[in-house]
Amino acid sequence: MTETQNKLSATYLKKLVWPTLLVLLVLLPGWPIVMEQASEAAGATRRVLGYFFGVAIGIALAWWIVRLIDVFVWGMLAARSSTHVPRLLKDIVAALVFLIMGITVLELVFKQSVAGIWATTGVVGLVVGLALRSMIADVFSGIAINIDQPFRVGQWVRVHPRSVEPMEGRVMEVSWRCTRIWTKENTVVVVPNHLIAASALVNCSEPETRSRFSLNFSLSLTVPPDRALRVLLAGARAAEGPLKDPAPTVSVNRVTDAGVEYRVRYWLEPAQVTPKKARHAVTKSILEHLHHAGFTLARPQRDIYHARLSSRKLENKVDHTVILKRAELFSSLAPVEINRLASHLTEHRFASGQAIVNKGEFGDSMYILAEGLLDVYTTSEDRPEPFRVDSIKPGEFFGEMGMLTGEPRSATVQTVTEAIVLEISKADFSCLLEDRPEIARQIARVIADRREMMIAKGKAVPASPEETKESFADQVFRKIKSFFSNFRPAHGPDDGEELAKPHPIPIR
Ligand code: CMP
Repeated sequence: MTETQNKLSATYLKKLVWPTLLVLLVLLPGWPIVMEQASEAAGATRRVLGYFFGVAIGIALAWWIVRLIDVFVWGMLAARSSTHVPRLLKDIVAALVFLIMGITVLELVFKQSVAGIWATTGVVGLVVGLALRSMIADVFSGIAINIDQPFRVGQWVRVHPRSVEPMEGRVMEVSWRCTRIWTKENTVVVVPNHLIAASALVNCSEPETRSRFSLNFSLSLTVPPDRALRVLLAGARAAEGPLKDPAPTVSVNRVTDAGVEYRVRYWLEPAQVTPKKARHAVTKSILEHLHHAGFTLARPQRDIYHARLSSRKLENKVDHTVILKRAELFSSLAPVEINRLASHLTEHRFASGQAIVNKGEFGDSMYILAEGLLDVYTTSEDRPEPFRVDSIKPGEFFGEMGMLTGEPRSATVQTVTEAIVLEISKADFSCLLEDRPEIARQIARVIADRREMMIAKGKAVPASPEETKESFADQVFRKIKSFFSNFRPAHGPDDGEELAKPHPIPIR
């Protein structure tokens, strides 16, 4: 036996001195009394003394047995395998010894039925179990951790619980309920054992005390890889903290939006140098080396072209000029003419189902639909009830027939939805015709188209068998011409007729 072993044995045996003395002290005088009480009815004083010595003997024996196990089982185990026997295991065995001894004392000294005790214990256990289920989960997880030993006291671990930030540090203690981890922030995290059992755990100290870490750095595509590798490697090797053997290495990881990503790998003994400290040292050293080489870290880059946005009009106002420009009837007008006409338009808003013009009435305006939808209704000799003949969509005009020929309105125009219409008065239109006589032709053509469509649908009949679309358009054109006394066509079949002097568009 070596001197150290001798010392160890002496230490262990010293632990037995007091429990043994206590056992002898209570056993020698107490045992006869306990036995006597057990065998015959005794007086009250003797009975109390019997209970006292019975409990004392029970406690002393339990203590003594726990110490015996401590010395001869745990002590020998620790000495032989040089492994640390978990405190949790020792505590559980000690608690079991005390429990069994307690029940024995109850049976022998207090004459209680053990079956009854166990039954009571079962019910109490159920209630306590429900109340302390998370603690019980911790205890069983603690037992599993102690048996499985995924980590030991003093090792560097990183725990990744599902709903909590990962925790990293050195294991201080694994108790029956929790594991204490000494973090790099110099704080102690108390992690319940069930959380550890249910989490992914990285043991940085297994299978060896050293483990590898890595950092990524992105440099511009313009930096030649050879130079980049050289500078990064020099930076990593110059850093204090990572192990010199195995030495740090650098490799090209991938090409990204930012440039080329390089991966620096280095080895550490986390128990000696914390990963955070090493990361700081490596990053700092590499940044210094990059600075001296004239390199900067790459960032994601984008080419951005600036274009002026067209002004956005969010107001509820209708732009009359825009409506006129989009109307086919006025497509031949110059911008200045459009603007002039737009300044003379009157805007009207109608609810749905409202009539704008009624069949048979006289009117001296025509209209352009700006927004909404309209239906055209008419009647015929054989169909006195109004029936729909057509729709008018935004940009289209109506009411021109009555205005240009002086005849009563040929149909009723009614809104289908809410609508905005722009009204052109006869006076303003006559000024327009003075400058743009071709508009009268265009309108005559549209009227002839509509009539042709009506005839085709059987909703109108030709005035004579010789009537064609062209002849009807000519007829309308002539009517317009005669109605507008100041109308002077520039060219066409009736060009050259003498007309009254035009008057300018009144500025309102
Ligand atoms: P006006 O006769 O002044 O009044 C009613 C308007 O309805 C008419 O002018 C035309 O503009 C329009 N209209 C008449 N018949 C049709 C049709 N078949 N299709 C489209 N619009 C029509």
